[in-house]
Amino acid sequence: MLLLNGPNLNLLGKREADIYGNMTLDELNSKLIKIAEDNGCSLDALQSNAEHVLINAIHEAPNSSIDVILINPAAYTHTSIALRDALLGVKIPFFEIHISDIFSREEFRHKSFFSDIAENVFSGMGIDGYEQAIMEAISKFKRL
Ligand code: DQA
Repeated sequence: MLLLNGPNLNLLGKREADIYGNMTLDELNSKLIKIAEDNGCSLDALQSNAEHVLINAIHEAPNSSIDVILINPAAYTHTSIALRDALLGVKIPFFEIHISDIFSREEFRHKSFFSDIAENVFSGMGIDGYEQAIMEAISKFKRL
């Protein structure tokens, strides 16, 4: 499995803690990698502030036998047709995650370029959304 986090999520734990909580990205990644391993899966985690780095990671995913992607595209959620096209291009199922509830925040966050093609959307569950997504990904896509 591949976990992608978009721009500014490297600031987790410091950034707008009232919205995004106190856990750092390193702590989150360690927690999710352990959950994956406990369930017999491996999880690669990448955060980038650069759209092309995220796109290139998606393009590379089939070469690394990635069977499912978990992605919090962050602000690219609302802007990036390029990331959407990359996910469609590799045809790997993906889950969309948002820590905050994008649908009840500012109007410009209501539009997601990913929700209609995602396996499922976890929005507004805080950090728990990542855990829920990983558990659903494992139950749906783990190769037996
Ligand atoms: C976010 C929501 C986005 O609107 C925002 O730009 C982010 C994080 C979330 O996890 O709640 O950076 O994706």
